[in-house]
Amino acid sequence: MNDLNIDIVERETKVILPEKLVFGKIYTDHIFEVDYDEELGGWYNPTIKNFENINLSPAAMVFHYGQSIFEGLKAYKQDNGRVALFRPEKNVERLNRSAKRMCIPEIDPDFVLKAMLELVRIDKDWIPTRPGHSLYIRPVMFASEPLLGVRSAVNFKLIIMLSPVGPYYPEGFKPVPIYATDKYARAVRKGIGEAKTAGNYAASLMGQHEAKKEGYSQVLWLDAIEQKYLEEVGAMNIFVRFKNEVTTPMLTGSILPGITRMSVLQILKDWGYNTTERMISLQEVIDAYKTGDLIEMFGTGTAAVISSVSKLKFNDQLLQFSETEAGELGTKLYEELAGIQYGRVEDKHNWMTYID
Ligand code: PLP
Ligand code: COI
Repeated sequence: MNDLNIDIVERETKVILPEKLVFGKIYTDHIFEVDYDEELGGWYNPTIKNFENINLSPAAMVFHYGQSIFEGLKAYKQDNGRVALFRPEKNVERLNRSAKRMCIPEIDPDFVLKAMLELVRIDKDWIPTRPGHSLYIRPVMFASEPLLGVRSAVNFKLIIMLSPVGPYYPEGFKPVPIYATDKYARAVRKGIGEAKTAGNYAASLMGQHEAKKEGYSQVLWLDAIEQKYLEEVGAMNIFVRFKNEVTTPMLTGSILPGITRMSVLQILKDWGYNTTERMISLQEVIDAYKTGDLIEMFGTGTAAVISSVSKLKFNDQLLQFSETEAGELGTKLYEELAGIQYGRVEDKHNWMTYID
């Protein structure tokens, strides 16, 4: 691939952000864009340019057959003024794994990382500094070839855009109410659940809509085969803390392998907790709630960070936790993780990548 072109019109950027940021609604001045052409032999013309609408044929295959993947990670303005990204190489690795699963050509990970860091450097004045705020980085890769036949495309586009964000949930960092359902399924083993691809989110919308109508923030998805085992929550992985174990669903192929999940497992191991990755049935969780063996539940994700569960509903069963206070371990993990991200806690595992 040729070198990174920088094709931006310098503007006097005055970044004035509203007090309350709706997640993902405001974008910065610039994007990174690169195209793929099978005949040209690969990715070409990588450019950082002004944020603008893109021009695609109505027949672009992404609109019809969903050949599209994305990523989500964050850059933080640390207390000492430095700008750092959390484990960006893991997101780039996952981008390429998703690409492979969706028949999208992979891309040189070092180059994408370099372009991402340069984009963040150019737009770093957009990074909000209020507590819990950050710059969300959204790479998206999709089929741009116009064709109505069903097959994998030969032209693709990768765009990286940036969005200053606050907390993902309207609740802020308060515990979130979650609703388990066996009416729908999000993904099935051997399907595309472990890829970060548009179709998984499309599959989740109806359940999410119904959960919202009942006053719940997100759906806790169950496995699609037996509808018995916990999988993950709309935009986060789920952890269950029993009396003597902190556990999270094992990666069976239908769950997104979260980078926050992986980091939380590492922190818990560092702290000496008994952690497991296994099949967890909803019935086991309900039974443990009744006997007092269930201590707390929380979700983990880039957008959601660590979100404690305030209550979990499944049909006529209701598991009630505190509606106002995050769980003890959830709080400790939030402080540790956010501490590393904002530079207040030692980064023992070298998870942060600095842009300056
Ligand atoms: N599960 C789903 C479906 C997600 O969309 C996300 C968010 O990216 C996660 C889990 C958490 O993954 P990560 O920690 O890498 O953000
Ligand atoms: C993320 O946490 O990065 C997500 O992708 C969640 C959601 C916005 C899709």
